[in-house]
Order: sequence, then structure tokens, then C-alpha cells
Amino acid sequence: MFFPKELLDNIVYYKVITILTGAGISAESGISTFRDKGGLWDKYRPEDLACQSAFDADPLLVWSWYQYRRDTIARARPNPGHLALVKWEALARDFTLITQNVDGLHRAAGCRRIVELHGNIRINRCQVCGQESNMEETPFDGQVPICSCGGMFRPGVVWFGAMLPENALRVAFQAAEHCDLFITVGTSAVVYPAAALPEVALSRGIPVIEINPEMTPFSKSATHYIQGPAGTVLPELVAVYEKAHGLSSPTDPNS
Ligand code: OAD
Repeated sequence: MFFPKELLDNIVYYKVITILTGAGISAESGISTFRDKGGLWDKYRPEDLACQSAFDADPLLVWSWYQYRRDTIARARPNPGHLALVKWEALARDFTLITQNVDGLHRAAGCRRIVELHGNIRINRCQVCGQESNMEETPFDGQVPICSCGGMFRPGVVWFGAMLPENALRVAFQAAEHCDLFITVGTSAVVYPAAALPEVALSRGIPVIEINPEMTPFSKSATHYIQGPAGTVLPELVAVYEKAHGLSSPTDPNS
């Protein structure tokens, strides 16, 4: 794998790492992305399934679609990309993983400091009282699960047109503003506010690496665009990081 010389020269100085992941990192675990050919938004319309008005119009249809996604996710296992980030978390002085994914695979892999910007598909949330439960406690079994208050549970994900969780958003922007290196991986970089995070890092003079097999609207702005799948690029990049930090000199100005 080719890594730019400037990145290799400087990697020893990067100790506070912030990562933003999107659906692409889970593609190699067998979970569909949204906007690739054959992806979820190629087959379905988000306005029919992933917004409040769709749920209000037909909660059973929306639940059936989320249950289908839950079933796929339940069969999926973390891939080498997820596992490389667990290793990176252990190596870095400070590490924040921000994800737009709702599949829980970063947690299953073993990452600890995770900011879930778009919620988690395993959670149910009552749309009347806000009570949360997990999908084992209140499963979807062909009927919309009902909360003890009588309200309907809905999947605990962020829908189009809805606000992101306030705390997650605050932590994410802080982590983008205060890091030595920002990495965006497996995201098409078109859904805001997540897509603003690498831009915020760049505006602070922080180098941003983008890892993606395809170029995105952000690629030309990235400090380094590394073309390739997360499951190949991330393990190699983490190996480079580990080697550099294993050999880091005591005269390092940032240590
Ligand atoms: P997208 O489907 O928009 O983009 C997935 C990206 O992953 C694309 O740029 C692919 O080129 C890239 N990709 C595919 N395979 C990859 C691999 N093996 N390694 C690395 N990258 C790969 O997914 P997101 O950017 O995550 O929101 O989408 C953002 C949000 O839009 C989602 O969280 C979801 C969606 O609508 C909501 O549902 C609210």
C-alpha cells in the first residue's frame, strides 16, 4: 500500500486521533451501504422508510424494514477495518471514534470511546415518553412494540429531518476541533452535519486523511486521499502508526 511521504514523516507526531466512519467500513462485513450501486437508497426511498412521516403513515412497514436490517446486522461480524480501529484506540494517547453507523459493529469489535451520531438500531425508543429499551426486551414480532405508557416504540435511529443527539454532536465537534489527525473512512461525505466534521478539522489546520475506494465530494479537499477498502487500508495504516510510535524518539517535541 502506498502512503504519502508527508504522512509517513509526520505520523510519529500524531497522538490525538479522531475518526469518522460511515457505512463503507461495514461493507466488508456484508452490510449494505446506502448510496453505492445496489445500496439501500438504490432499492428503497428514504422518504418511505426513514423519516417520521413514513412512520406515522405506516409504522408496520417501517418496522418491517428495520427488522430486515436488524436481521442482516445480527449475522454480521466486525471485519479487519473495525479491528484495526480497536488496535489504534489502544495505541493512541487520545482516540475518539465518531460513527454514522447504527450497526453497533465498532462496539462489538471492542472500541470503547464511540460517538454514535445516528443512534443504534438495536435500541427501541418510545415516541411518546422517550423511554428506551433494547430489541430483546421489546422485540418487533410482526406487531409494533408498545411502551408501558401506551406509546409506540420506534427504532432508536436518527431519521431524515430530525435533530442529532445533542451530546453526541457536541462531543463529535470537540473531537474534530481538538485532534492531531482526523480520518474519515467509508462515508460518501454528503450527509450533514457529519460531513462538516472533516471540514471543521481542516479549518483548524488539522490534517485529514480520507480512506475510500471511490472519490467523494470531499476527496480533493482532504490532505491525503487514500484509495482502497477500509479492511485493507486501515490495518496497514495502523501497522505504520504502531511502528512509528514504537520507534519514537524521546526528543519528540510533542511528547
Ligand atoms: P453512503 O452509502 O452514503 O457511503 C458509503 C461510502 O462507503 C461510499 O463513499 C463508498 O465508496 C464507500 N465504501 C464502499 N465500500 C467501502 C469499503 N470496503 N471501505 C471503505 N469505504 C467503502 O454511507 P454514509 O456516508 O455512511 O443516515 O451515509 C451517511 C448517512 O446517510 C447514513 O448514516 C444514513 C444515510 O442515509 C441516516 O439513515 C440518517
